[in-house]
Amino acid sequence: MSLIHDHQVFDRRQLLRDAWRLYAGAPAALRVKQRLRVLVCPFEETIGFVPEGSTVLDVGCGSGLTLGLMAARGRRIDGHGFDPCPVAIGLANDMAAGIGDTGSTLSFEYRDARSRWRDRTYDVVHMQDVIHHVPAPSQRTVFDRACASVRRGGVFIYKDMSARPLWRNAACRLHDVVIAREWIKPVPIARVERWAEENGLSLEVSKTAHRAVYGNDLRVFRKRL
Ligand SMILES: C[S@@+](CC[C@H](N)C(=O)[O-])C[C@H]1O[C@@H](n2cnc3c(N)ncnc32)[C@H](O)[C@@H]1O
Repeated sequence: MSLIHDHQVFDRRQLLRDAWRLYAGAPAALRVKQRLRVLVCPFEETIGFVPEGSTVLDVGCGSGLTLGLMAARGRRIDGHGFDPCPVAIGLANDMAAGIGDTGSTLSFEYRDARSRWRDRTYDVVHMQDVIHHVPAPSQRTVFDRACASVRRGGVFIYKDMSARPLWRNAACRLHDVVIAREWIKPVPIARVERWAEENGLSLEVSKTAHRAVYGNDLRVFRKRL
């Protein structure tokens, strides 16, 4: 079935309320950060690509916001996320412990994408704003592992910063210099599409989803049967 025909776009104001509620026990600055993520990333689009009842892997999940929002919006997922930041994973675990009865189960793990992952596949793999933080020599390996984690017929939701227009790209780079103190290594979206194709995934959705000053490329791939 086509992802485009099934696609539901969620209400961003509702997601902002969800993000605030999910991290009720977190320090104020980290709580605000989750809400800002909702303003700069197209969560209202990506969540709608996840069929209800899916198993979901979130690579570089940060504080677990994506899986938390999927659960809060009733996707009834079995979600697993990992990230190499211990503070973020602590926050994600606290969020999962306090989320209440959503019909979803969430688990989080401290892990770097360059280390070995669980040897299993998922209905949905999600990777947002991660690959530009991975050292360039490991980017292809990490991307290939994400593709290998998608079951046949399953989907890979990929979102990262846009290379164009240049002023939006500059805003994203400046953001990472200030916030992450890092000069990031973006992968051109045409290369991402080629890598996906070489891994047996077909492009189903291609969107620019710019938010505020930030440029976002959103791609949804499906693994061929
Ligand atoms: C901009 S944040 C995005 C977090 C989350 N994906 C989201 O969209 O809210 C980038 C994340 O990538 C993670 N990251 C950086 N290098 C990584 C690596 N080698 N393996 C896995 N995650 C990594 C960081 O720890 C951080 O949580």
